[in-house]
Order: sequence, then structure tokens, then C-alpha cells
Amino acid sequence: MTAPRQHPAPAACHGPQYQALDRLATLVSVIDAAGAIRFANNALEDAIGLSRRSLTGLALADWFSEPNLLQNAIQGAVSHEYAVIRYDARLQRLNNEPLPVHVVLAKSEHGGELVVELLPLEQQTRLEREQRLHEQAHANKELIRNLAHEIKNPLGGIRGAAQLLQLEPDARELAEYAQVIIHEADRLQALVDRLLAPHRRARVVDEVNIHEVCERVRALVLAEYPRGLRVRRDYDPSIPEFRGDREQLIQAVLNLVQNAAQALQARRAAGDAEIVLRTRALRQVTFGRQRYRLALELHVIDNGPGVPEAIKDRIFYPLVSGREGGCGLGLTLAQTIVQQHHGLIECDSVPGRTDFKLLIPLP
Ligand SMILES: Nc1ncnc2c1ncn2[C@@H]1O[C@H](COP(=O)(O)OP(=O)(O)O)[C@@H](O)[C@H]1O
Ligand SMILES: [Mg+2]
Repeated sequence: MTAPRQHPAPAACHGPQYQALDRLATLVSVIDAAGAIRFANNALEDAIGLSRRSLTGLALADWFSEPNLLQNAIQGAVSHEYAVIRYDARLQRLNNEPLPVHVVLAKSEHGGELVVELLPLEQQTRLEREQRLHEQAHANKELIRNLAHEIKNPLGGIRGAAQLLQLEPDARELAEYAQVIIHEADRLQALVDRLLAPHRRARVVDEVNIHEVCERVRALVLAEYPRGLRVRRDYDPSIPEFRGDREQLIQAVLNLVQNAAQALQARRAAGDAEIVLRTRALRQVTFGRQRYRLALELHVIDNGPGVPEAIKDRIFYPLVSGREGGCGLGLTLAQTIVQQHHGLIECDSVPGRTDFKLLIPLP
């Protein structure tokens, strides 16, 4: 009835009643009341990267990033507080990143044993994250437009009044202050114009070659940072051209690469700063709740210190900046431009490796 097993189970690992669990795609383990693994099905062996023979006898809780969650759940189940317990956790894998899972723990019919089911959450969290990004970008756009107009209107009046003040013969000693007002009003005006620019400019649609875009950006950034910075290319030549606004896309990629170069300040000084521009063609991908036959994936990867933890989940918001002198518009603008191309930008950052991934559907 059951398929032959790759790993003969040790005696402790119970007989045929558990072998059926090998047919499930869900990760399943049977543990004793102390939390020691008695059985791990094939799916769980594969996920962790160890055979069930090696897993048997180990504490299942130790395979989670948060061991105490399972320990508490086991206690709750054993002390008859709960029949079934569910919670989210991260499963540690041997040669892989932790896997977000939904854990379902239930008592088994067999004396004192517990059955632990792990349902991978990867899909779900990714969808939720994308949807959040999408909604956030939409809210940003509204906010920016309204705010910019609210600022723009009185600004004209302030500047005009300051100019009049400057011309006033009785107020010569105030002319310097008036000049400061004019200067600051101009600076604000420029900021507001930058805020409104991506929404106002008509899109120029052209055939875009993403590697041309990358090369332009690469040349610009190397001209700005001629020392201590290497910009490595890792291009997939099979990527077809697509219709889009080339200048806007250059701006979007430039914003990402400039951020990376800025974050690499210390490494540039040390001479080992590196940015990688990696392109790939992806087949059958889903993002923004749509499935695409083909999509472009462009990574901008740097070996800098990573996005500051405090602003990590807000970096795509306007006016959020983690650096001295930053105005926090670069990523907002880049995200807006890429979304106008039906794509999106995601960020994955840990100290030493920051990866901004830009996805755009291809024809
Ligand atoms: N590659 C990166 N490495 C580390 N931090 C980054 C990176 N890219 C962006 N950031 C952080 O995100 C913030 C927002 O970026 P951005 O929207 O371009 O605004 P600005 O560059 O004006 O600060 C930056 O100030 C920086 O703190
Ligand atoms: Mg920036």
C-alpha cells in the first residue's frame, strides 16, 4: 500500500500508521509529550534538509526560530487546556532561509502523542506584502498631490511679499532677511515641483532595452563616485525590449543605485564597495495579484550596512529618509514610475546585503 521509503525508519518511529503521512504535501511531525520527534514525513524531511532518521529523538521546538512557542503549545495540549492549537512561526532549514509556517498542533489518538502540521505561509505573506505596497503607493500619490498643491499656493504669495519687502526703501536692513525668505521659498518650490513631476508628466512610450537603462545609470553613478566603487553587471541577454518610458525608468533605477552608492560610503572609503545590477527574465510569475507569462526582474544589490531598522517598513513613503540631507523622495518616485509600468519594487535588506528588486511585466 505504501511506497517504499528512502530512509528505513528506526524502530522508535512507529509503524505503518504514519507512513501514509508521507503522501501529504503538508509538513507533518509526530512528537511525544516531551516534544521529541518520533516521526517526520517526507515533506518535512525535505523542508528541513535532514532525514527522519537523523531527526528522530530531537526536540522539534529547536527547529523553530521561536522554540518557546511550540514548547508552550505542547504544554497547553498535554495539560488538556486546548484540543487544537494554531499559531504562526518560522521553521529553521539547514541550507535555506527560515520558512514562515502556520503551525497546527493536535493530540493524536495514540497515547500521549501529538501531531504537528506546518502549512507554509510564503505565498500568503508575499501576496499580502504586495497588496500593502500597492495600496501604500496609491495613498502616497493622493497625499503627495494634495499636499503639494496646498503648499504651492501660499508659497507664491510668500515669495511675492518678500520681494516687495526687498524693494522697500525704508526697510533696507531687512533686505537680507527678505532674501532668505525668497531663497527658502524657491527651495520649497523646487521640492514641490519634484513631488508633482511624476504625476504630471505625460508618459513617453518607447521601446525600452533594460540593459541600455542599466548602462546609462552605471555610467552616471561611476562618474559621480569614481573611486572605491565597483558596479558589476550580471545581465540576462534573453530579455526582450518592452514598451515604456525610458527616461523615467532611468530615473527610477538611478534612484535605487544612488541610494546604494550613498549607503556604501564607508566601503567606498575602504575601496571594496560593490553594487550588482542583475537582470533576469522570469516565467509564469504572479505579482500585484496578476499572473504574467514573462516578467523582467532587475536587482540592485549592494554590500552596504542595510536599510536602517527604524525606517525599514516605511522607506517607500514620501519624506522618509535615513540619511543626512536626504529628502525621502527617491524611493517614492521610483515606486511610482515602476507602478506606471504595471510593476513594483520590493526591498530585502540585511547588513552586508541590500537587494532592491524591480519587477516589470514583459510582452
Ligand atoms: N541601498 C540602501 N542601503 C541602505 N539604506 C537605504 C538603501 N536605499 C535606501 N535606503 C534608505 O532609505 C531611505 C530613503 O531613500 P530615498 O527615498 O531615496 O530618500 P533619500 O535618499 O532622499 O533619503 C534612505 O535615506 C536610506 O536610509
Ligand atoms: Mg535617495
